[in-house]
Amino acid sequence: MKFELQQVDSASKARAGKITTDHGEILTPIFMPVGTAGTVKGVHISELSDPIKAQIILGNTYHLYLRPGLETLEKAGGLHKFNGWNGPILTDSGGYQVYSLASTGRKIQEEGVKFKSHIDGSLHFFTPESVMDIQRTIGADIIMAFDECTPYPCEYGYAKRSMEMTHRWLDRCITRLNETEPKYGYQQTLFPIVQGSVYKDLRKISAEYIASKGAFGNAIGGLSVGEPAEDMYEMADEVTDILPKDKPRYLMGVGTPANILEGIALGIDMFDCVMPTRNARNGMIFTTQGIINIKNEKWKNDFSLIDPMFADELHGQYSRAYLRHLIRCDELLGAMVASVFNLRFYLWLVKEAREHILQGDFATWKNGAINQFMHRL
Ligand code: GUN
Repeated sequence: MKFELQQVDSASKARAGKITTDHGEILTPIFMPVGTAGTVKGVHISELSDPIKAQIILGNTYHLYLRPGLETLEKAGGLHKFNGWNGPILTDSGGYQVYSLASTGRKIQEEGVKFKSHIDGSLHFFTPESVMDIQRTIGADIIMAFDECTPYPCEYGYAKRSMEMTHRWLDRCITRLNETEPKYGYQQTLFPIVQGSVYKDLRKISAEYIASKGAFGNAIGGLSVGEPAEDMYEMADEVTDILPKDKPRYLMGVGTPANILEGIALGIDMFDCVMPTRNARNGMIFTTQGIINIKNEKWKNDFSLIDPMFADELHGQYSRAYLRHLIRCDELLGAMVASVFNLRFYLWLVKEAREHILQGDFATWKNGAINQFMHRL
């Protein structure tokens, strides 16, 4: 794998780059659609390529391990073969899902995390080693380290102890990956995760520790968990000053269009979030003109296009009134059309950002873009 830094903005820390994987290239900054259970909810694999133009998607260790399970994934020849997506895949380690989904009966110990499946209550144990093995079996191109994502708010002492454990877990992840081989003949690389809650001194220690491991890329976790956006930006700013410039940086679980543009300005290259798909299903549509709550009465008889920018593309012909009708009736097509629109917008947004970085006017473009794209229509 390779990362080339193509341009750094002179008025911000924004960067344009290119990651090369065995499953293709990723032009950064990039947004990665979330495909929790091996599917981006409501979206065909073919739609991910066109019209969405996704370059990499996410999968989740936690979900895929529980269902369909490792035996099926291994027999399929990995997730790419199983779901038919031939581009790069990044898998989250479960370091977030075991806390957010399996919160009852969960026990965090130095050895690993005991948790109860949110599906049937069965008991499981994740360790840094097992989570590396699982991600090898899923066949992720990018494997995330096993970490603890601290909640917000988080008392300083807990955040420090947790961060230190995440660092020890990282060492175990690295050892395990070095002892094992990719299963399907292509390269798999590890991204360690910076933690430290909203404490600048902890973030500094964590970023220095993570940077010292010399991984191919690095991630920032434990943000967008309820803290004020200003705290998130402050932490990202601190961390991107420390992480190596010649490696991709991934801000996990972020965010709104504004969060993404601010993150790019702070030197982040990769983002993922359930927001475009989850909010689509609830009728929140991101467009190049602003945000639409499609359930609103105001769209009842509005036969204009959902987003005129995408008029000639798949689903581009549908009106706001028709999408409102579909979503209000809980029609499957409504969720599907809305998900494609939101993801296409997110991928369009990061492409625009990239073009402005290459053109040299990103910082001035960004503020107007945030006002335009966060504006509620
Ligand atoms: N997704 C969002 N935040 C996090 C985090 O802190 N850790 C992991 N593993 N995944 C995340």
